Amino acid sequence: MRRPLVVANWKMNGSKQTNSQWLQEFAGLWQGQQNAEVAVCPPAVYLAQLQQALAGQAVLLGAQDVSAAESGAYTGEISAAMLSEFNCRYAIVGHSERREYHAESNAQVAAKFVAAQAQGLVPLLCIGETLAQREAGETLAVVGEQLRAVAKLAGVEAMTRSVIAYEPVWAIGTGLTASPEQAQEVHAFIRQQLGGVAQDVRVLYGGSVKPGSAVELFAQQDIDGALVGGASLNSKDFYDICRAAQ
Ligand code: 13P
Repeated sequence: MRRPLVVANWKMNGSKQTNSQWLQEFAGLWQGQQNAEVAVCPPAVYLAQLQQALAGQAVLLGAQDVSAAESGAYTGEISAAMLSEFNCRYAIVGHSERREYHAESNAQVAAKFVAAQAQGLVPLLCIGETLAQREAGETLAVVGEQLRAVAKLAGVEAMTRSVIAYEPVWAIGTGLTASPEQAQEVHAFIRQQLGGVAQDVRVLYGGSVKPGSAVELFAQQDIDGALVGGASLNSKDFYDICRAAQ
């Protein structure tokens, strides 16, 4: 059985004050629900604040990115070992915003995946097609290639120690959620690509997930949870999405 997982990706949002308020509100709502696992990925400068605030709570911590390098002259980068020091369980790798704005290639994403696992972090690998790629009928080819690049470097068995997030680029921050059927089709394909380890890997959906769309998405056989951007900034909306994953 794959435990449902709901992850908040705050992206570049928040402040000490609003984080603190969010954490207080969410802690008041999310009590004792055991089935779904919940994690929050704040901007890295707030990891210490969240580590402290989440101590003893059933909410895990994650990073939005991780360096492929171990240490050294990489100005602005943060290593997997550093993230481990702040109790991070997860590290997002290959988010489409990093692929697009920072020109991260499949090979670089694969290297980050390996670097995260080397320090015991669970990489949360984001894959997904653009609108142009979908319209050209290339969705499965693109997603398959993104997945293969990582499996080739890390090995297929390493996929069992990761989480995959299917995030169609056209659905991110646009309000255009993929329909449950559209998402399920790609999720089933991803699982098929994973071969023998497929049943052990959680595959999340991301892209304009809202409380109103979560239930139907989570009802799909191969959708094991969500990676939530915009709606995760509101503690009550995020809580409602977490509840839908129960
Ligand atoms: P939105 O939920 O804002 O569409 O963002 C999805 C996402 O990119 C999560 O990583």
